[in-house]
Amino acid sequence: MYVLGIETSCDECSAAIVENGKKIISHVIATQIEFHKPFNGVVPEIASRKHVESINAVVNSTLEKSGMQLKEIDAVAATFRPGLIGSLLVGLSYAKGLALSLDIPFIGIDHVHAHLYAPHLEEEINFPYIGLLLSGGHTIVAKVDGYENLKVLGTTIDDACGEAFDKVAKFYNLGYPGGVAIDRLAKKGNPMAFSLPKPSLHKGDHRYDVSYSGLKTAAINQLDQFWNKDYEKTPENISASFQKAAIDMIVDRVILAVKDTGINLVVAGGGVTANSYLRESLKSRLADAKIVFPSMSLCTDNGAMIAGLAYHSLKIGKTSPLNLNAEARVPAFRRLYP
Ligand code: KG4
Ligand code: ZN
Repeated sequence: MYVLGIETSCDECSAAIVENGKKIISHVIATQIEFHKPFNGVVPEIASRKHVESINAVVNSTLEKSGMQLKEIDAVAATFRPGLIGSLLVGLSYAKGLALSLDIPFIGIDHVHAHLYAPHLEEEINFPYIGLLLSGGHTIVAKVDGYENLKVLGTTIDDACGEAFDKVAKFYNLGYPGGVAIDRLAKKGNPMAFSLPKPSLHKGDHRYDVSYSGLKTAAINQLDQFWNKDYEKTPENISASFQKAAIDMIVDRVILAVKDTGINLVVAGGGVTANSYLRESLKSRLADAKIVFPSMSLCTDNGAMIAGLAYHSLKIGKTSPLNLNAEARVPAFRRLYP
């Protein structure tokens, strides 16, 4: 079965044709980086307008690259949540229209589930595992029992991990996208230059939660307070110290989840899982566990993970109604702290 997957939840306009949830036949990602770069962050209005301009070309070029014709497609899938509402609506409406016109099923996909599906495109992975989802909008440690069966163990109680990278990078004008810039600069910096605070572990049910707002504020407004005087205040040193604090905090939670559940398999997904320090750190600190990362191009937003996951719905006859609406947030994925 061939599924055409469309992803427009944020600033990447992407489409892919995936065979049987596994084989990527063709894949196109049109990035909007150059349009958001002057603002050092994604501007939602610009993002949705650019999706409208490029969606048709992206889908056409995906088809062209596949050498297939529309009539060979078995279903059309699109991200329906969570994300920027205007951006989501572009891909969602396009996918519904296409499915309707071809008289084939339409499947709405949850972006968080899709990020964790990305590594499944590349290797066989058995359930259960500890899922680590780190992106610009989400920070989730979960016990994953199936493609769409995810028990959230911990989330951020304020900012998402990628959001903190982006805000710190924006403040110090380190480059855009912020996470990529910090990762690059950190390689030449010293993580000991600033001893930034790490919030202590909560007890009980909230022990897997993290908080990035305090770390972000410390890195932006109180840097001198945490400065170790033997070091210089360079962008490289700021990046390395911030990155270490941000990543160590979430790796601590993953280690805790592995220990508590006895599940020795960790599967990562989302833009921040491209981070080189995270990759090294998880592998070295969890040496006895198996850690699976998607390849770099499948960490950030892409249509292949949408098409791939949709296949598993299609296989069991689970499709979505054409009145499925877009949802900006999924409350279970972002904890509102009591
Ligand atoms: O998954 P994604 O493409 O979009 C969302 O669903 O949010 O993730 C984007 C996020 C941004 O915050 C970006 O700065 C971050 O991923 N990111 C990174 C790296 N590459 C992308 N963060 C840290 N290190 C990286 N190498
Ligand atoms: Zn994403």
